[in-house]
Amino acid sequence: MAVDSRDQIKRYFEQSQQLFGNEIYRTNEPAAEVYQSTVDSLDEFRLQIHECKRCSLAATRTNFVFGAGDPNADLVCVGEAPGADEDAQGVPFVGRAGKLLDKILAAIDISRERNVFICNVLKCRPPQNRDPLAEEVLQCEPHLIRQLELIKPKLIVALGRVAAKTLLKIEGNVALKDLRNKIHDYHGTPLIATYHPAALLRSSRFKQPTWEDFKWIKKILNSEA
Ligand code: URA
Repeated sequence: MAVDSRDQIKRYFEQSQQLFGNEIYRTNEPAAEVYQSTVDSLDEFRLQIHECKRCSLAATRTNFVFGAGDPNADLVCVGEAPGADEDAQGVPFVGRAGKLLDKILAAIDISRERNVFICNVLKCRPPQNRDPLAEEVLQCEPHLIRQLELIKPKLIVALGRVAAKTLLKIEGNVALKDLRNKIHDYHGTPLIATYHPAALLRSSRFKQPTWEDFKWIKKILNSEA
């Protein structure tokens, strides 16, 4: 993304903050350890890291789940970690939650082929789908940061509480509702948090707020199309 368009986005957010009163949050965390990566395309990067053994999940995974979608997407959706279906297929969000995510994205005219890239904080499935461990995040997050550098999206959407608090380095208990309706910053890219599609499958009360979030996402993406 060109520097000027980043400035424009910043201005847009400042204006929207004045209009809607959303707080703008910035993370002051040091960047995760970033390793040398000389590749300049997402495909090359996938080849470079798909046999990653930086953490112990390498021993239990079936497939490394790099991410899927449009390498030039304006929107990157980030979940927590692959589940059983994703581990089996090597593709993110292909189970029930993923099918719902596809429907939600379709409602704002976005598909995996066009204008979204979907991935996870962790590229490998934690056994029994437990939450990511700090050490796993530390080792894996540089992959995500490099993906974002290559994709240069306008907006990141963190799907669910675990993804959001992990990316934003929030310790302790925080409810997803307290992270919504704010524009956060993730290594220089605006980030907003919404419910995980699996939460919508568990309880329909999350559907309306999620829909509100995706209408807002569409508005942000269209803001300087
Ligand atoms: N849940 C996630 O967080 N990620 C996936 O890829 C699938 C389900």
